[in-house]
Amino acid sequence: EAARKLFLGEVDFLKGVVAMDGLPPDDRIEVCFAGRSNVGKSSLINALTRRKGLARASNTPGRTQEINYFQLGSERYLVDLPGYGFANAPVAVVAKWQALLKNYLAGRQSLRRAFVLVDFRHGIKPVDEEIMTLLDRSAVTFQVVLTKADKVKDKDYDKTLAQVREKLSKHPAAYPEIVLTSSEKGDGIPTLRAIIAGLT
Ligand code: GTP
Ligand code: MG
Repeated sequence: EAARKLFLGEVDFLKGVVAMDGLPPDDRIEVCFAGRSNVGKSSLINALTRRKGLARASNTPGRTQEINYFQLGSERYLVDLPGYGFANAPVAVVAKWQALLKNYLAGRQSLRRAFVLVDFRHGIKPVDEEIMTLLDRSAVTFQVVLTKADKVKDKDYDKTLAQVREKLSKHPAAYPEIVLTSSEKGDGIPTLRAIIAGLT
């Protein structure tokens, strides 16, 4: 279908941005992937586009330290963000990219939707709520993507989903539908492609 064609078609790395004035012109439909360090943002971009090394993923929290732009077809950008929360990098460096991250999330006109990734095993943490509150204030619609579904134990499944739903109900900018994904197994990938392809 169309969404699959879009994601398996022309996708290219555009640039890594380290300051707000380095952002490309905001004339395309843009979605971003935000979430705690190591939650699986870069891996998800690779799974969506089925290109293993497109976004750099790694077991070291704090792997992505710039705002990375990928061109999806000729009308859209996928944006891989640095993680928040714990990172394996010097404090001053982390502070700089956290500030950039917040400025980006609060001030990007063409940002149609922020996907806030949450590890399905851990649920929503206080740092996630901080980001969600920032998105509420900036009126940026955000949608929660639960990651690493392949690692969730059956007994934790309903409990975590209930926690996430309960927390989201308090955020006016939250989109109610939650997407369950595994970049490893491919769960939820077609759903997420369709959501992104359908944004206008
Ligand atoms: P930062 O850039 O450091 O903020 O991290 P990130 O959110 O981009 O995470 P990344 O994609 O680098 O993945 C972190 C680790 O989680 C890697 O070791 C991935 O292989 C692993 N991982 C990501 N997604 C999944 C998944 O769906 N299932 C499993 N089992 N592991 C995953
Ligand atoms: Mg990353």
